[in-house]
Amino acid sequence: MKLIFLGPPGAGKGTVAAQGVAICQVPHISTGAIFRSVIATMSPLGDKVKTIIEAGKLVDDETTVRLVKERLAQADAQKGYILDGFPRTIFQAEALAGFSAVDRVINFDIPDATVLERLLGRRVCRKCGTNFHISFNKPKQAGSCDACGGELFIREDDQEGAIRKRLEVYRLQTLPLIAYYQHQGLLVTIDAQGSVDAVMDRFKQTLGIQ
Ligand code: AP5
Repeated sequence: MKLIFLGPPGAGKGTVAAQGVAICQVPHISTGAIFRSVIATMSPLGDKVKTIIEAGKLVDDETTVRLVKERLAQADAQKGYILDGFPRTIFQAEALAGFSAVDRVINFDIPDATVLERLLGRRVCRKCGTNFHISFNKPKQAGSCDACGGELFIREDDQEGAIRKRLEVYRLQTLPLIAYYQHQGLLVTIDAQGSVDAVMDRFKQTLGIQ
């Protein structure tokens, strides 16, 4: 199964994808996570990507497409994938169509107010990347990851100014993908509000899984 997760920042794409891996038996491929690992290399490209992400803007299409193409060529992605956060522009969608045919695009529908509430309360494990929330998905021990004990931190782009910029960029550059995939008959929209369990149930329903 080759799935794309489309939706604004904070819609819960990463959270559903992390659980969806076991259900769909395919890897979770997040362009945000790929870029954060590029930043960790402290290379010139990493420095450039860091500046872009912290400003809430998009990394250029050519770099993004190149990294995704390389990732999808790896052995574990041959049986399928959950692509989280890619494509985000029509250019990226057209490039993807040239090297992989997706089965379905899940569009996570959510109002801005909920996005802000979710992202302002998000905490991420520095070691394994697991997401938590200070109210909705609390770690057992404050500041520490349930999965690996790593330190939890606030992403630089989860500051209110950067979140608002990301929402603006989403509307300008990513929203047109809804009509693009609708036109191809691939789009399914799910209500991304409510608890993680409720959203997971809606996700499973779209795949015909009980
Ligand atoms: P990326 O890391 O992909 O960020 P994003 O798309 O903005 O998405 P988020 O990770 O913020 O949110 P999410 O929808 O995954 O929500 P989550 O599950 O974490 O990208 C970062 C940056 O990289 C971009 O801004 C851009 O610069 C660059 N980039 C990435 N892809 C690119 C591309 N294709 N082209 C160019 N540049 C690109 O949930 C959020 C919070 O809510 C968590 O705390 C979670 O615990 C909580 N939560 C989740 N679901 C629920 C629920 N149902 N109820 C209550 N709380 C919930």
